[in-house]
Amino acid sequence: MTKKNAAQRIVDDPLWYKDAVIYQLHVKSFYDANGDGIGDFAGLIDKLDYIAELGVNTVWLLPFYPSPLRDDGYDIADYRGVNPDYGRLSDARKFIAEAHRRGLRVITELVINHTSDQHPWFQRARRAKAGSKARDYYVWSDTDTRYAGTRIIFIDTEKSNWTYDAEAGAYYWHRFYSHQPDLNFDNPQVLKAILSAMRFWLDLGIDGLRLDAVPYLVERDGTNNENLPETHAVLKRIRAEIDRHYPGRMLLAEANQWPEDTQEYFGDGDECHMAFNFPLMPRIYMALAQEDRYPITDILRQTPDIPANCQWAIFLRNHDELTLEMVTDSERDYLWEKYASDHRARLNLGIRRRLAPLMECDRRRIELLNSLLLSMPGTPVIYYGDEIGMGDNIHLGDRDGVRTPMQWSPDRNGGFSRADPAALVLPPIMDPLYGYASINVEAQAHDEHSLLNWMRRMLSIRRMHHAFGRGQLKLLKPNNRTILAYLREHTDADGEAQTILCVANVSRMAQAVELDLTAFAERVPIEMIGGAVFPPIGVLPYLLTLPPFGFFWFLLASSTRLPSWHAPLPEPLPDYITLVVRKNLTEILSNPSRTTLEREVLPDYLPKRRWFAVKQARRLEVRIDQATALPGAGPALILSEVEVTSDQGTERYLLPLAELPDDETAVRPRQLALARVRRGRHMGWLTDAFSIGALAQRVLDLLREDATLPVDDGELRFIPTIQLAEIELPADAEVRWLSVEQSNSSLVIGDRIIVKLIRHISGGQHPEAEMGRVLTERGFANIAPLLGEVVRVSASGTPYVLMVVQSFTHNQGDAWQWTQNMLERALRSAGGSEQPEHSSQQTDALQEFAQFATVLGRRIGEMHNVLAQPSDDVAFAPQATTKKATRCSSDWMRRSICSKARLGSKMQRSASGYTGCWGNARYCIKR
Ligand code: NOJ
Ligand code: CA
Repeated sequence: MTKKNAAQRIVDDPLWYKDAVIYQLHVKSFYDANGDGIGDFAGLIDKLDYIAELGVNTVWLLPFYPSPLRDDGYDIADYRGVNPDYGRLSDARKFIAEAHRRGLRVITELVINHTSDQHPWFQRARRAKAGSKARDYYVWSDTDTRYAGTRIIFIDTEKSNWTYDAEAGAYYWHRFYSHQPDLNFDNPQVLKAILSAMRFWLDLGIDGLRLDAVPYLVERDGTNNENLPETHAVLKRIRAEIDRHYPGRMLLAEANQWPEDTQEYFGDGDECHMAFNFPLMPRIYMALAQEDRYPITDILRQTPDIPANCQWAIFLRNHDELTLEMVTDSERDYLWEKYASDHRARLNLGIRRRLAPLMECDRRRIELLNSLLLSMPGTPVIYYGDEIGMGDNIHLGDRDGVRTPMQWSPDRNGGFSRADPAALVLPPIMDPLYGYASINVEAQAHDEHSLLNWMRRMLSIRRMHHAFGRGQLKLLKPNNRTILAYLREHTDADGEAQTILCVANVSRMAQAVELDLTAFAERVPIEMIGGAVFPPIGVLPYLLTLPPFGFFWFLLASSTRLPSWHAPLPEPLPDYITLVVRKNLTEILSNPSRTTLEREVLPDYLPKRRWFAVKQARRLEVRIDQATALPGAGPALILSEVEVTSDQGTERYLLPLAELPDDETAVRPRQLALARVRRGRHMGWLTDAFSIGALAQRVLDLLREDATLPVDDGELRFIPTIQLAEIELPADAEVRWLSVEQSNSSLVIGDRIIVKLIRHISGGQHPEAEMGRVLTERGFANIAPLLGEVVRVSASGTPYVLMVVQSFTHNQGDAWQWTQNMLERALRSAGGSEQPEHSSQQTDALQEFAQFATVLGRRIGEMHNVLAQPSDDVAFAPQATTKKATRCSSDWMRRSICSKARLGSKMQRSASGYTGCWGNARYCIKR
């Protein structure tokens, strides 16, 4: 993909956050442009194309404000500035503009619960008089025993939520580090000051604000000081300010709470637009650990509906530890044991690890979890580096181990910075498994199969379907509990409905699952990553098999998209009429059976056949015509034509008939049965004789005999070519049906001979038979030789070709499908790769096609040579052409190929911007 193509536009939609995919990063760890060892805004701008090309549309920046950095910037010392290590305010402003230019929205942090103790507000407060407005910016107490029922969050470092300040001579309240005093929202000045800071960034063009630690804004005696109504009142004030002055901007709540408490941060659609789904995240890991979907389905069922203008944010990992606050104690122990057996990986109530190490570098599990992240209800948040499977360093302090420099290349410092390694903001990962020498963007960009390119593909698929961001969730309940299956259903504003079926195997074993999809009977599942079409859904449970940790996303498309290889089961008649026969089956051609067949059976039977051309026809009148028994040993066989007259005109079809005993067990003849047949007390079936092997054998016998049979109008001729005599088949040669019910019906005998019934018959030569006969007789080797044909010649001399018999050529499918697959492969590799080197697959595919076309062209030339031989047959005698006629037809051909090439290059350009191959095609043709 070129830079030009990567640029998307900002979609002007107030609900943009519903279709967002957020990429979360830290400026200091992303890219260092000035070589001082610390990432900066200039570096981030340099890497914006990478972010846009990944396929996300929103960037979330961790705090970049002036700060003593004792909580990595969440300890803010100035709400309106930029940490000088990262750049200046003008750099931040430029970054916002550059992001927007690439269609990327920007989310920043609004940390309102607390400041750094270095913030001027706190310095002023501690010196101010007790009870003064300035002092009351923070929460003070003379003792450290107030609000005793409040939990401590950073239990590994803090022993109390109060810390004594000698200057103030009082204790101040803090829910996090002791150097992060909590602001006092009971002081109206505080909210005013915070709103002013918020406006400052919104005026710079920020699209969304992550509200850090919002459950703890207000304190009240006798409560646990979380989720208080007073806190919600503050948030509603903030939201009102947004709605009034900044419509279209978004608030995202960080509330690490149970679903019922988190839900309240949406209010009635008048608080935060989004909130992180904290309870879901650890349960995804739990489901994988227990190989059971239950932790996920259980929490999803507990997750309440949210207002229509609101949205969950979902994530697998972020800059913090994998918090296990929202699980039970026993679940926490289990997850710790499973994912953090090394105690150094544990921090507070969580696990400080990145996604790839949690998944033990297992690509299948990493992909599975990402497939859930990208398909579950909500807006996905991807943590920088997880798209390439970056590792962590549990030897670093606090959460620094998951905040190490982005790994761009195998160069010094992983391509993050040119600085002396000792000067780096954090040491990059260097271990053999996850270090930058093996895991880096450059290497993965060159590898079509890398995690990075896989993520790009997944994101591009997600982008095309609003159902992921906006759709309703419906959980399915298959009996196999290792399978998580759900539907995402959405109807667009223009009324177009979309249903996506997601199926995930959380077990390390291959699994089969039966899904109840009867509500979608006749829909065709299209696998969304590869585009393969699966068999249509029927009324029985839909069976799927999944490899270990495998997953599928299916679009449930309408039945027009049937796979080419799918052989649908014929639809049988609901009720069968019984015909009575005493001796010969030909009795059914006389009344009353004939009338029953013509008036009652066939008008019902024919429209159910795929080969019947006028399915919508009304007022069908059916007449059995030219019926004749085929002589020979074995079951009674009648070859008949049926003439159908309707409001669409008159047509003629071939319908051979056979009688089968009642105990016949083969499925096909039973499914194609027309009626029951009773002989005394013995019951049987009247069926389409094509469904039994005896018909083809009988036809071959009659061809070998060069037989002619009289019929009502003319005669039935079995006309062999000499090649037929050369093929010997055992009497019990196996019969294989190719297309039971397509426009024609074909079967293969003994893997040597193919017999094709021409279902829809009309008078005149049949080109396949006529041309096949001439080329076979003249010894042209590159067609399937004609072995014979069955023709009825009317009394007036008009031929009606009923069957064509050819030598069977082994093949791997048809050229139409093969060409489509090959072109799709070429377009896909053009669309999925950013580097020109990656067009090699596409070139391979097109070269393969070019070789094929060359052979095809040569064979056609050879065929024309054969056809140019002198002949007594006027239809095949060569005629001299004029120069003008030759030029005319070659001009026409060139024009038609060029217009196809133009279409091809248009398609290719839209996929890749690379026009090489089709351009070449046009050039060659012009020459
Ligand atoms: C939540 C942030 O995600 C975390 O990194 C930070 O330490 C706390 N808030 C305190 O600011
Ligand atoms: Ca720098």
